[in-house]
Amino acid sequence: MTTVTASEAAYVVAALLFILSLAGLSQHRTSRSGVVWGIAGMVVALAATVGLASKSITATGLVLIAVATAVGAGIGLWRARVVEMTGMPELIAIMHSLVGLAAAFVGWNGYLDVDASSHGGEELTGSLLGIHHAEVFIGVFIGAVTFTGSVVAYLKLSARINSRPLTLPGKHVLNVGALVAFVALTAAFVARPHIGLLVAVTVIALALGAHLVASIGGGDMPVVVSMLNSYSGWAAAASGFLLANNLLIVTGALVGSSGAYLSYIMCKAMNRSFISVIAGGFGTPAAAADDGEHGEHREISAEETAELLRDASSVIITPGYGMAVAQAQYPVAELARKLRERGVEVRFGIHPVAGRLPGHMNVLLAEANVPYDIVLEMDEINDDFAATSVVLVIGANDTVNPAATDNPASPIAGMPVLHVWEAANVVVFKRSMAAGYAGVQNPLFFRENSQMLFGDAKQRVEDILRSLDALDTPVREMAGSTR
Ligand code: TAP
Repeated sequence: MTTVTASEAAYVVAALLFILSLAGLSQHRTSRSGVVWGIAGMVVALAATVGLASKSITATGLVLIAVATAVGAGIGLWRARVVEMTGMPELIAIMHSLVGLAAAFVGWNGYLDVDASSHGGEELTGSLLGIHHAEVFIGVFIGAVTFTGSVVAYLKLSARINSRPLTLPGKHVLNVGALVAFVALTAAFVARPHIGLLVAVTVIALALGAHLVASIGGGDMPVVVSMLNSYSGWAAAASGFLLANNLLIVTGALVGSSGAYLSYIMCKAMNRSFISVIAGGFGTPAAAADDGEHGEHREISAEETAELLRDASSVIITPGYGMAVAQAQYPVAELARKLRERGVEVRFGIHPVAGRLPGHMNVLLAEANVPYDIVLEMDEINDDFAATSVVLVIGANDTVNPAATDNPASPIAGMPVLHVWEAANVVVFKRSMAAGYAGVQNPLFFRENSQMLFGDAKQRVEDILRSLDALDTPVREMAGSTR
């Protein structure tokens, strides 16, 4: 009894640590401590769970738990160490598949083992038994949908299968039909539990998860990953009800609701309809590139860019996916540092969906030790472009496309963007005139105040750093010779 109380108290501590972790992760300034809170919460949760379990399982069981924990921790550490930032979405997707699988197994176990120990020591009769069976069914359903959905998301994100949306005839009818079948089967199972019904719902859920995600285009895949994150939370919460484990319920609800909210924020920032994305199949990336006449673009060299920066009083850097591909964050951070040393006001403008996952740019800049106070969100900086001497667009494209505000016919019309074109000078770092993620041409490149600096972003920024040094040298030498 004492152990149960201690473990329950530890669960409350762990739940609080998880809430602190989420609060910490919501701002880059506090994100590192958020991670530490999360790790601490998980350590407390694991220790308390093993403490609780040790009352009812054998020594062999405990050894098996230790081995499983060691293997899981080993795989987790290995994957987290080797993953590239650009590979993060697929790592998250495959992790979610495991949460879904675990929830489906817990559900099945709840059905096969409806003894007192499987439900917190309570004798299950009457309506409690009905609730238990509903929990089993819902847990298996959400878990199986999350499992296959996440596996398909992983396969698409890692380019192991084509990321084009699957368009089966009557696909919406198939999805709605699966949901209706789930509701009907749940009612039947609660009334008269039978293994055949559980097998049926498992098969339907596995097919629904795969179909839902297969019918979403690569364009919306990050939203899908965040949505699957939400599903995996609800799946864990369902397992928590089955196992009468309060911490699992609280944690599942935290993950479920924060994942749903994140998906909503991402949809809003991309001007997509949340319902359309989760209904599947609306996510065809706007492939129709705009072939309209845009005029001539102008090019600029790294040396000329360095001169422009030397004479600038204020600079805003707007990074995008290309900065992540080029791994240009370190020279970019160095450039910001050098310019600030010269008295230039340097700030970063971050679009909420720049890159390929939420917070992508913030993570890269934090990695390169860019001070947090010069990294501003789009809404904080959008009014300042007009008073800015030079904007460096480093590997960003859709997020700085004026067509989103100027052209109602554009596939990205209505998407909030960074108003970089309002600055006196804009230098766009990219390798070619190719379109961005949305497949839409960018009129920014043809504006009179824009110039293209072609090449790999990392190499070009390093060239600028060298040119800035070279520009400095004669000044110092002259200063030395006049002394
Ligand atoms: P994008 O529109 O994807 O454009 C990136 C640009 O980087 C490309 O035009 C590419 O041009 C350039 N680039 C690639 N590799 C480079 C390199 N090594 N050096 C220099 N440039 C390089 O980027 P964005 O502005 O960040 O926009 C993000 C897009 O992803 C949006 O459409 C957004 O809706 C979508 N999206 C984002 C998310 C999240 S959560 N962030 C989720 C889903 C979708 P070149 O090929 O010519 O070099």
